[in-house]
Amino acid sequence: MVSPRTRARRHGPDRSGAAPARCGGRPRAPRRSHLLPRRAAGRRGAARAGARLHRHRDRRSPRGARGLHLRGARALPLRRSRRASTRRLHAPAASPRRGDPMTLAGWYMAAWSDELGPRPLGRRLGGHPYVLFRDARDAATALSAICPHRGGDLASGELREGCVRCPYHGWELDGDGRCVRIPSQPAHAGIPPRARARKLTTVESDGAVWVWLAEGPPVGAPPPLRLPGTPRRRLRARPQRFDAGFVDVVEQAIDSSHHPFVHRGAMGARQPTEVPPIRVDVDEAASALEWEYERAPPGAPETPRHLLGALRDAALDLSPPTTWRYRCDLPGLLQLHIAYRSGGWELSALAFTPRDAGSTWVFAQSARTRAPHLLGDLHQRYFMLRVLDEDRRATRLLIGPRPAEGFPTAVSARADAATLAFRRLYARALQNGQGGSSPHA
Ligand code: FES
Ligand SMILES: [Fe+2]
Repeated sequence: MVSPRTRARRHGPDRSGAAPARCGGRPRAPRRSHLLPRRAAGRRGAARAGARLHRHRDRRSPRGARGLHLRGARALPLRRSRRASTRRLHAPAASPRRGDPMTLAGWYMAAWSDELGPRPLGRRLGGHPYVLFRDARDAATALSAICPHRGGDLASGELREGCVRCPYHGWELDGDGRCVRIPSQPAHAGIPPRARARKLTTVESDGAVWVWLAEGPPVGAPPPLRLPGTPRRRLRARPQRFDAGFVDVVEQAIDSSHHPFVHRGAMGARQPTEVPPIRVDVDEAASALEWEYERAPPGAPETPRHLLGALRDAALDLSPPTTWRYRCDLPGLLQLHIAYRSGGWELSALAFTPRDAGSTWVFAQSARTRAPHLLGDLHQRYFMLRVLDEDRRATRLLIGPRPAEGFPTAVSARADAATLAFRRLYARALQNGQGGSSPHA
């Protein structure tokens, strides 16, 4: 038998890292050594060898998971710790462009009606936590989620006969925000008059709960959906959180020149890039804009070039569209109505609500007469969620600085006509004193 020393003399030193077999035992596991290549040596060995550690986002991971990157080596995921997972939960990847102080006073969508169930719904709106629930009269209610007693989170509590009960000391608040029961004292003892939570004015219409998100009494009513007839199918996506400022997210929805680049996955890779001319009608009294495309805008369904595509379009009733009509109601509702040559139509409506200065809720729904069957629903849901996901990722690409007030100065092209009209109308609304913020911000 050749001894390890003799083998080393003949063949050079063993660089496999495997320890020599002990007498009568199994070979030991490879040891981590600075003699090993960095990849094989692992994190500790590489660090000892002087490799530089970089915190970075793993671009190969769709969620942008954090990892430790050894230069010249593959990324190693951080060990899952309780602390790390909590940090991910509360501080997701966000656009570096944060801060949007230009929130207009107005009606904002806060929840879908069917989100109000047997448990309180917590939702951050305009930079403040709220709790939404149905009161004793079954009316949708939105209260500040901060308990007036010691600041407990009412959204983590429970509902009892139309009241929300704080999880900390059990105080119960009714739909007007008044405390009606303090369990630690007898029923005949008085309840301090200041024991109440601030309440937002709430309107429930068309399957959604709207709140007036500003100081002072509400003005007007939430903007209605512009349905040209009775839809035969309706779909709603659960509220989507975009980590970008409110105005950035609304402008993204208005802009269609990004479709051939951002929505290649959802809309196909062969979309035309040229945006047809549009004329924007501004209704200042209603704080609304309308525009229409004379030809198909980028991202419009194409005529299929193969049999499978033709069959799909026949099943989904995707005949060539005849009109694309947009309407934007300030502060945050965008509706796109598409009419098809077959006589069918569909409406896509997006409601935007500032979550805080750097994040925005997007409530997406669609109504249609086209393809009123399960296959049509599946296609519509897939398309809606994919477009939202692509848009959410695209907002993270915005790294240009945003001024403390006003819109970022940027060069615009003809295709930005609707965005520029939106900016002018929005700026005028701010000048007219419609600028506001959460009553609690
Ligand atoms: S903190 Fe809510 S009851 Fe005490
Ligand atoms: Fe988009």
